Amino acid sequence: MGFISIQEAMNKGSGKISIRGWVYRERGSNKIKFIVLRDHTNIIQCVIEKAKVGEEKFKEADRLQIEASIEIHGEIKKDDRAPTGYEINVDEFNVVGWCDTFPISKDQSPEFLLDNRHLWLRSRKMAAIMKIRSTVVGAIHRFFRDRGFTEFDPPIFQPTQSEGGATLFKVDYFREEIYLSQTWQLYAEAAIYALGKVYDVSPTFRAEKSKTSRHLTEFWMAEMEAAWMGLKEATEIAKEEIKFIIKEVLEHNKEELEFLKRDIKLLEGYADAEYPTIKYKEALKILKEKYNMDIEWGKDLRTIEEEKLADHFKVPVVVTHYPVEAMAFYKPEDPEDPGTALCFDMIAPEGYCEIVGGSERSTDIEDMKKRLKKMGEDPKNYEWYFDLRKYGSVPHSGYGVGVERLVSWICGLDNIKDAIGFPRTMLRKSP
Ligand code: 4AD
Ligand code: MG
Repeated sequence: MGFISIQEAMNKGSGKISIRGWVYRERGSNKIKFIVLRDHTNIIQCVIEKAKVGEEKFKEADRLQIEASIEIHGEIKKDDRAPTGYEINVDEFNVVGWCDTFPISKDQSPEFLLDNRHLWLRSRKMAAIMKIRSTVVGAIHRFFRDRGFTEFDPPIFQPTQSEGGATLFKVDYFREEIYLSQTWQLYAEAAIYALGKVYDVSPTFRAEKSKTSRHLTEFWMAEMEAAWMGLKEATEIAKEEIKFIIKEVLEHNKEELEFLKRDIKLLEGYADAEYPTIKYKEALKILKEKYNMDIEWGKDLRTIEEEKLADHFKVPVVVTHYPVEAMAFYKPEDPEDPGTALCFDMIAPEGYCEIVGGSERSTDIEDMKKRLKKMGEDPKNYEWYFDLRKYGSVPHSGYGVGVERLVSWICGLDNIKDAIGFPRTMLRKSP
């Protein structure tokens, strides 16, 4: 008889089945042993009786420790007393991988769990998050492909900065200095001349010195870039994308969300809500009037300010028209609102803050050169990028979604480190 998953066995509900997995819990007496078995789909209680399997085999069952891997053949039936409502009466079992005392037990510190991430990944919590993450990334691909976008992959080794030199990771590239990608954007801007609308989900690297619950040094960004597109349209697509992703997670991962104790009603609300768009200067007004916070015009919004805005709106809010001087060199000034840039951030509620950043792209070579120089960059290194403005330039826009930021918010996580299999931060580079 072929092996089926625990969930498939439970769906079957009765009769003889074969399953395999890992010991999740074990207890028993000298006559009967209760093993809760785990696989990637669920857990189930299995009962091994000495009278049935014989003295020798029962000794083996007695030696089983948590996380040993076993194959089980037996009969499944409904049992309301069992943890997941079904129980397997074991006819035969076979130990595949014995297990020493598993290093992880209850109530261990987050640091210990991070040191043992290679083992903690097996926890039902991490498995639930990784399944939701997979749905999120799958939804991103579907969202863009269904709308005529072409997937386009960037180089990860890049010759220049794009989001500021302070967070660049330098690599020794045959004795020359080169950098790990901070964004796919500049290369996507080249691709739109061939492909019109492009998107990608790719690894992104930033030497962030901040030890917050929102920053990783290696994260995945889902970006899009489109020719003939202005700021307004880009923000609307970003809103649609986020709602689409939440709907997909609600459709495919209810059980995981429940396991994580996520408020599903709240998520359903986010999937249907109107997300407001406001200008930076209106944001300052709200912060002043409602929260008595005096923010000097000209600064990017900080976490505390984003938190207050989110608290005010209770749903994701798009903030546009940040002060141009605080923005990346490629974000153009709005001719209709001097001093501000044609750019936006989307801020998630519940303290998750910025999940999306994007803008129209400047087509003014001289302005970009000036701004690069101000940052201490040599415009000569960006000649290829300026070429894109010389040979049939078109208005274009794009944005990037932080995959782990989004997963953290959807799952309601305390820390972004749990939104990725093996997190990397300033203080964490292994396992
Ligand atoms: O706002 P950012 O820096 O935008 C860009 O890089 C643009 N070039 C994107 C584009 O227009 N194509 O980053 C985009 C998003 C942020 O909103 C945030 O969600 C996430 O990437 N992000 C991080 N996530 C985790 N750890 C970090 N250190 C992050 N930095 C940015
Ligand atoms: Mg940003």
